[in-house]
Amino acid sequence: MDLFEYQARDLFAKHDVPVLAGEVIDTPEAARGVTERLGGRAVVKAQVKTGGRGKAGGVKLASDPDDAVEKARAILGMDIKGHTVHKVMLAQTADIVEEYYVSFLLDRTNRTFLAMASVEGGVDIEEVAATKPEALAKVPVDAIDGVGIEKAREIVAEANFPADVAEQVAEALVKLWDVFIKEDALLVEVNPLVKTGEGRIIALDGKVSLDANAEFRQPEHAGLEDKAAADPLEAAAKAKGLNYVKLDGEVGIIGNGAGLVMSTLDVVAYAGESRGGVKPANFLDIGGGASAEVMANGLEIILGDPAVKSVFVNVFGGITACDAVANGIVQALELLSSRGENVDKPLVVRLDGNNAELGRKILSDADHPLVEQVDTMDGAAARAAELAAK
Ligand SMILES: Nc1ncnc2c1ncn2[C@@H]1O[C@H](COP(=O)(O)OP(=O)(O)OP(=O)(O)O)[C@@H](O)[C@H]1O
Ligand SMILES: [Mg+2]
Repeated sequence: MDLFEYQARDLFAKHDVPVLAGEVIDTPEAARGVTERLGGRAVVKAQVKTGGRGKAGGVKLASDPDDAVEKARAILGMDIKGHTVHKVMLAQTADIVEEYYVSFLLDRTNRTFLAMASVEGGVDIEEVAATKPEALAKVPVDAIDGVGIEKAREIVAEANFPADVAEQVAEALVKLWDVFIKEDALLVEVNPLVKTGEGRIIALDGKVSLDANAEFRQPEHAGLEDKAAADPLEAAAKAKGLNYVKLDGEVGIIGNGAGLVMSTLDVVAYAGESRGGVKPANFLDIGGGASAEVMANGLEIILGDPAVKSVFVNVFGGITACDAVANGIVQALELLSSRGENVDKPLVVRLDGNNAELGRKILSDADHPLVEQVDTMDGAAARAAELAAK
């Protein structure tokens, strides 16, 4: 989960990384009072989860409270790379002498953590990285040893920080490492980390991405979610504990096991190519021991997607045998009707594996008008694509 800048700033402050005071607002008028509290001047910054805000006109200096209202009015509602600005942060202004770059991230390729640092930070860091790679120090960080002050000094030395700020930057790096580890982040980036006229080091802009797999031990992170931006179907699926990802297609997919569902997406996309270009509408893995209720919940989410024209239920019976799944489908359809849900889209069901024949018989006997069975995965994918293309 990517955070907004103001949320990253709050996490930095929680772990004693030096930051400037700031407040978030969503109406231009609110800028006046905030700017007065910040001492009469402020930087008005668009809060969007994308880079390059400054270059897009989303970061503006306001010289007084009235000016801050005008700047906030100009930035709120702005579109930055497809992201609409709903909030702006007003921050104290810094007297910037130099702009640096520092980050910690998970380096999957090398199976380690990585520290990156440069004394040429600021809005052009991407260009620095591309054209002057030697100006961006990359230092692997051992997951067990982490970043203590010694390691931080090594990073600072690799990046050639000037002597007058070296120790302060090293201390900031140790605290940023705290953010990275204690908050279970995948990325902590500060750009720019600035040196002020007084010689202080301050994190002026932060990007943090949190590891969703660590949610179970980070109860406070739930409050950081941007509920307004979440896909409503994904939110509903999450509330039901389903493994669901919305995609941009017409064939609803339910399967058991992540690998099977991934390959189901592939065969449906392939079958769809010659049938009007229909595509899978979602990923949904109902897991190994799926009950009728889980099947009903999954069907409810998928049938609730207006883009879905047909549904492909692809099950390979293992520990949960096909007869149990077939009963689950029959009961799920009854359950949905009794809940008053609209069950009006064709379902193509493919059952294979443990007790497949028994499962197929249960579905044939139930004789539900919307359910069709096809015994092979390719055949079922083709049929589901054909129904969606109609
Ligand atoms: N509080 C501040 N006081 C003075 N100048 C600031 C302040 N915040 C930002 N700036 C200036 O504006 C520039 C851009 O700000 P910032 O880094 O926050 O946005 P950005 O880099 O354009 O956005 P992104 O990191 O999303 O690409 C900074 O490099 C800095 O020069
Ligand atoms: Mg920045």
